[in-house]
Amino acid sequence: MSDADGRVRAAILISGAGSNMTALIEAARRPESAYSVALVVSNNPDAGGLALAAAQGVETIAIDHRPFGKDRTAHEAAVQVELERRRVEVVALAGYMRLLTPWLVSRWEGRMLNIHPSLLPLYPGLDTHSRAIAAGDAEAGCTVHLVTEGVDEGPILDQARVPILPDDTPASLAQRVLAAEHGLYPKALDAFCARIRSL
Ligand code: GRF
Repeated sequence: MSDADGRVRAAILISGAGSNMTALIEAARRPESAYSVALVVSNNPDAGGLALAAAQGVETIAIDHRPFGKDRTAHEAAVQVELERRRVEVVALAGYMRLLTPWLVSRWEGRMLNIHPSLLPLYPGLDTHSRAIAAGDAEAGCTVHLVTEGVDEGPILDQARVPILPDDTPASLAQRVLAAEHGLYPKALDAFCARIRSL
């Protein structure tokens, strides 16, 4: 079920600063946006992104994973309840630092996106920028992909490329890639939602 104005209802899952989340929320304000942001969920109650989202008038909820101990599925079930309660149709992971179980992934098959700071299939996992520099790559970038059970393995929806400069450090490259992420993710989510809306 979409919003009354026909927009796809998206939720954003975060764990930290939420700069991609902010880019997604800002882009959703455009009258022609194919999605609205119905909810921001964080597994980390101290995530900086929670206050940023609230300041933008977006509903936020923190569901701390720690009380659930090793029971990842129980934590995910608590998240799922909130997503269903808001009639969420698409989930965008944006710096969500939890590995998902097949339980949640299967519930959102074809409807959950992630942004990863490398040109997948290169460098899944962590430390992408130092690995790209160490490999002597000429360029780096970011990828928006559908979430499947394998980490950073799902079908690629879109990518943005940036050069790797001779004096780059992992930190300077991360900054350049993050700026590219902020352009890519809203564009990719919008195109994805426009597509599913027309189905
Ligand atoms: C981004 O680099 C994203 O690609 C990765 O985690 C980082 C999150 O940054 N998955 P932010 O919280 O969006 O600022």
